[in-house]
Amino acid sequence: MNLISSPGRPLQGVMCVPGDKSLSHRAALFAALAEGESRIENFLVSGVTQAMLQALSALGVEWAWEADKQGHPQGVLVVQGRGLGGLRSPAAILDCGNSATTMRMLAGALSASMAGALSASMAGALSASMAGALSAAGVTATLDGSAGLRRRPMNRIVEPLQQMGVDIQASGGCAPLTLRPTPFPLRPLNYTLPVASAQIKTCLLLAALAADGTTSLVEPGPSRDHSERMLRSMGVTITAEKSYSDGKPLYKTSLTPPKGRVLAPLAMALPGDFSSAAFLIVAAVITPGSNVTIQGVGLNSARTGLLDALLGMGADICITAQADRSGEPVGDLIIKYSRLHGTNICGEQVVRMIDEFPIFAIAAAYADGTTTVSEAAELRLKESDRIGVLCEELGKLGVQATEHPDGFTIHGGAPVQGGVLEPHGDHRLAMSLAVAGLASQAPVTIQDARIIEESYPEFTQTLQSLGGRLVVE
Ligand code: S3P
Repeated sequence: MNLISSPGRPLQGVMCVPGDKSLSHRAALFAALAEGESRIENFLVSGVTQAMLQALSALGVEWAWEADKQGHPQGVLVVQGRGLGGLRSPAAILDCGNSATTMRMLAGALSASMAGALSASMAGALSASMAGALSAAGVTATLDGSAGLRRRPMNRIVEPLQQMGVDIQASGGCAPLTLRPTPFPLRPLNYTLPVASAQIKTCLLLAALAADGTTSLVEPGPSRDHSERMLRSMGVTITAEKSYSDGKPLYKTSLTPPKGRVLAPLAMALPGDFSSAAFLIVAAVITPGSNVTIQGVGLNSARTGLLDALLGMGADICITAQADRSGEPVGDLIIKYSRLHGTNICGEQVVRMIDEFPIFAIAAAYADGTTTVSEAAELRLKESDRIGVLCEELGKLGVQATEHPDGFTIHGGAPVQGGVLEPHGDHRLAMSLAVAGLASQAPVTIQDARIIEESYPEFTQTLQSLGGRLVVE
């Protein structure tokens, strides 16, 4: 499937974006570990969340859709929790599709679920051979996924999980991952993450639910705190503190398992996904004559680095109707076409806009002057190498984009040409390149654009409804 976007029409209108992807993954999985029924409104229905829901079914979790008040048939996801130790052994390999979030979070949940309920003293009395026999008698779970997912680094969760006593193996540091049960409770962990990562943090926090004491994790940056907010609402004690060492910030998160290891069920309405809104925000900013309002967008400050970047570049964006929705900040955004100028992005702001660099690069291409991104080597380990392939594809549109080991430089403001582009199996790259075509000199064709359905199936239709010239072939 090719997606062709063409310039020439302003974007105008008021709309919403689908539910947040990060929160949808967490809500479904955490609900599965709770005791009782959870109800989640505005759950994202997309390729990656489907992978999570299918994996949960394979683990014996029952879930169903109910209509919401507007009559939308998939308006509310209802999940029957099985309790922390209640996941059933899967009959087949758990297919996480393209979703690293699914794989890393499931690995944490399975670690907790497979950890034995033996007390430390009973465990101490068991001989190693008896423990081994008990372990071998138990079930095994294997997590695997697409060729793209098999390239994503997994040692970043495997090593700390092993330190906790989890029996988990990777294949050359990557998927497939194999987990076996252990009769012992897990050891609490004191661990410094090599990179700020909410996926690693969440994986380890989930495993820590089955540990014999308080786990503390330290990150070098402010990764998204959705898991902490949600787990607190389920009765888990989690503290967060920021300190400095040699002038560098450290973010520490500590979790103490709940009494009886019981998690309360969830009743949530999820905010719109800021990372999906990001495509519409930049589309409106770069397309002359545009004026777009996006309602009910999640505005957690660990996610909104792109807003700060665009405001700093001169974008006309207004935030209104700010409120709390199920423990997360939300608001409406009013975005108007603006002339942008270049900027520099580094440090904590990289973490706060980690998923937005493909679309940020499009804003930079349309901005006057030079934009530089540094301290962002993590981008090479996302759904694609978001430094290398981003610069390669922008080059095909005549944009002067140079890659560095830890970022890129874009000389913006020159006319952006048309062209035929490759999304490299990356949903965010596909949508970003399509947005570039709304203000370019000639149409932009995105090949293999079906990948967009992984996170934002309504992307094309929404831009069309705002007046954007997008055609599917
Ligand atoms: C996510 C965290 C980020 C992000 C991903 C979703 C999450 O990954 O890139 O799309 O839901 O926790 P890292 O935490 O590995 O940076």
